[in-house]
Amino acid sequence: MAGYHSPQVEVAVRLNTNECPEQPPPSFFEELARAARDLSANRYPDRAATALRHALAAHHDLDPEQVFCANGSNEVLQCLMLAYGGSGRRAVVCEPTYALHSHIARLTGTAVVQGGRDERFSAVPEEIVTLVAGDDTAVVLLCSPNNPTGNAEPRQRVDDVLSSVGGLVVVDEAYAQFSPWTAVELLGSSPNLAVTRTFSKTWALAGLRLGYVLADPEVVEACERVALPYHLDAFKQAAGIAALVHVGAMQERVARLLEERGRLEAGLRALPVDVWPSDANFVLFRPRHLDGQAVWRGLLERSVLVRDVGGYPRLDGCLRVTVGTYEETSRFLEALEETLAH
Ligand SMILES: Cc1ncc(COP(=O)(O)O)c(C=O)c1O
Repeated sequence: MAGYHSPQVEVAVRLNTNECPEQPPPSFFEELARAARDLSANRYPDRAATALRHALAAHHDLDPEQVFCANGSNEVLQCLMLAYGGSGRRAVVCEPTYALHSHIARLTGTAVVQGGRDERFSAVPEEIVTLVAGDDTAVVLLCSPNNPTGNAEPRQRVDDVLSSVGGLVVVDEAYAQFSPWTAVELLGSSPNLAVTRTFSKTWALAGLRLGYVLADPEVVEACERVALPYHLDAFKQAAGIAALVHVGAMQERVARLLEERGRLEAGLRALPVDVWPSDANFVLFRPRHLDGQAVWRGLLERSVLVRDVGGYPRLDGCLRVTVGTYEETSRFLEALEETLAH
């Protein structure tokens, strides 16, 4: 198997991994420093991450029994696949989508069944039902907003999938704060739903690796069974709690990024590229007259790093750019205009 690694190159403008371009506020770091001073580093951490789970449950208006935390939402997905996938089981993914879904499924010995998407890149419930083929152990992996295409799934489609398959339906909501709706609203009525979230994007904590799933207590218990003991360190648990205290600052970052996304989309539309509408903090585009890889290299020569997603099904020649700061967007648009003119 090949590993999954996004290039880490030293550049002036890094817009390839959909991180938040800003740091959390200084008061967050003050709380973190306090937490570090009070840490019982000689002791194992609270295995159940009780305080963090309670804080997350309060944030989402759910019960702590509906929350499981891990080292990034990727590890959450890995726990879900360890618990519900495995040899003899299958996972349904709708391509093009987040490559880690099928990668993690395969790592856990789960067979990957690939469906497609409609012309707007939405998953198609009827096709998913056909691929599940009545198998109540099949796991369906949805992504809303979808990476790398940027579109949120219409609520009706997620509802249709939930009501017509018997197995676990995972909705990866790494970019939820940019989406017009959230599948968390469906948790009460759908015991087979698991919604994954991350602190890596809008919470601006990609460097600390923290994610979680919101689901029925039975799903949470299954994740606890497969997680390694003490998998979530005490410092990270404290960091998550400190982040949640600063929810206002997070919402302000989202508002700034949404404004910046509008400017980025408008700038792209003024250039000879096809642009897809985005419900996330990144935008998918395809140069009309130049090869995508050549444009990726041209941008890199100008110290701007974006993601080459041309290898995904249906995305031949496409690139994905993260919404950055005002200055980063400006530098990216200038570099792209120059590259396309050559
Ligand atoms: C759809 C999606 N899910 C999950 C992740 C990974 O999140 P984390 O950093 O929490 O592992 C990403 C990161 O790019 C993503 O795009």
